[in-house]
Amino acid sequence: MLGSIATFAVYGIDSRRVEVEVDIRSGGLHAFSIVGLPDRAVREARERVRAALSNSGFDFPRGRITANLAPADVRKAGPVFDLALAVAILTTSGQIPPDAAADSAVCGELSLGGALRPVRGMLAMALAARREGIRRLIVPLERGEEAALVEGVEVIAVSDLERMGALLRGEWEPEPLAQGRPSTDPDEPEPGLDLADVRGQHDAKRALEIAAAGGHNLLMIGPPGSGKTMLARRLPSILPPPSFDEAIEITQIAGVAGMPYHGLTTSRPFRAPHHTISPSGLVGGGPVPRPGEITLAHCGVLFMDELPEFARHALEALRQPLEEGRVWITRAQRSVVFPADFMLVAAANECPCARADGQCRCSETDRLRYVRRLSGPLLDRIDLVCQVPRAAPLELVGSAGSAGESSAAVRARVIAARERQALRLAFDGIACNGAMDGRLTRMHVSPDAPSRDLLLESHRALALTARGHDRVLRIARTIADLEESEVVRADHVAEALGFRVGATTGLAA
Ligand SMILES: Nc1ncnc2c1ncn2[C@@H]1O[C@H](COP(=O)(O)OP(=O)(O)O)[C@@H](O)[C@H]1O
Ligand SMILES: [Mg+2]
Repeated sequence: MLGSIATFAVYGIDSRRVEVEVDIRSGGLHAFSIVGLPDRAVREARERVRAALSNSGFDFPRGRITANLAPADVRKAGPVFDLALAVAILTTSGQIPPDAAADSAVCGELSLGGALRPVRGMLAMALAARREGIRRLIVPLERGEEAALVEGVEVIAVSDLERMGALLRGEWEPEPLAQGRPSTDPDEPEPGLDLADVRGQHDAKRALEIAAAGGHNLLMIGPPGSGKTMLARRLPSILPPPSFDEAIEITQIAGVAGMPYHGLTTSRPFRAPHHTISPSGLVGGGPVPRPGEITLAHCGVLFMDELPEFARHALEALRQPLEEGRVWITRAQRSVVFPADFMLVAAANECPCARADGQCRCSETDRLRYVRRLSGPLLDRIDLVCQVPRAAPLELVGSAGSAGESSAAVRARVIAARERQALRLAFDGIACNGAMDGRLTRMHVSPDAPSRDLLLESHRALALTARGHDRVLRIARTIADLEESEVVRADHVAEALGFRVGATTGLAA
């Protein structure tokens, strides 16, 4: 007797359909074997499936059972095939009607007692089920809501194998879960970190707003304790909320990375890896490729604190993803692509001693050598550089009414500026000024006559490079967008020049 059922395996951040086929021959030696590149976890599945079936009131068929997981070229890892194996055995052995699950796919791990346990990457599996035209997806109870975010696939959430049997025999007819965007989806930004918490630091807040508005990568330079980390952590609060599709993508990535599901995300991710992180931790990798920090930061912010302390090859590995918004991980014969479209915010001290007490004795040479570590792999990709000086005591103590603007107020301007950019860049396949290459920059940023004069003068006085020139134009474009001005004027260019690399570091650019 031969039977089969569809299930899904996580592959990259995506999921692929796997067909579980079972053949049962009566007589001869009793045996249960699984073929199709199973790893240890799949072999262990034999024991779990056997126990779960027996403990749920089913018979474990006698005879020779062979299970095949197809296609063979998908590396099967983890216990995600338990449920599919159990259901295939039940249909093949006639304990439930053979075509009961014909238009369905099942995903779940089993406990020895027959309870369905959640699996990693449920949202990715549901998206794949829709792509494959699966009508009904049967999943563990805890993952039902996550799977039902995907419209067009009926999701049934089941607690254990016994219920599963009742469902497939038609003795239990549960309502499918409500599909799509949860109705309780709050549009409000999450309460918490707010830009109003940061006292003073007008220039740094301005840089943060421009970075958010144009999707520009940002580097903050300043002494320890000046508030760089505090500022960076508040960037997500002034970014536009993710669209529904972005929220799905962010949630899918978090699910594949094994993070617990707390509903569809309403905010953009903020990732702050420590500077000792390995290149594969940063960009992704491993024998079964797992997403790295840059993919977990997709649609959000990657914060690299103490940028000069990161290993050089880790920084090198960031170059291609920063350019392309995704990363290729190649292992043996296989290669997967992970999305990695994030804003980079980096922070650095101005000198190697990092003394907070103002007693720094670093020489100018020490300082320059330290700052030069920044040049090379990444500085090219950073449009905005700003100085974050230690705030004056008076600013920190503050007075009534000295609290700055709230994140909500800044975010409203950011959203308006992004809308202008989206209209202008609609045909270029990008969303914001920070993503314009040299060609697009020259096409979309036409400074008026006084600002052209100012640029010419700066070339002479500041030794602006060609790339530096493009960066200034991109920033000026975003400043104009924040002011709802289609024309880029001299005051926009002048402000942009203050954020160029050389203005803070003394490096050429
Ligand atoms: N401008 C500021 N307004 C309010 N608090 C500040 C400010 N700057 C620094 N602080 C306080 O100092 C602490 C250290 O700041 P932090 O952001 O970690 O500095 P850095 O990252 O530059 O070393 C913060 O947690 C905050 O409590
Ligand atoms: Mg810090």
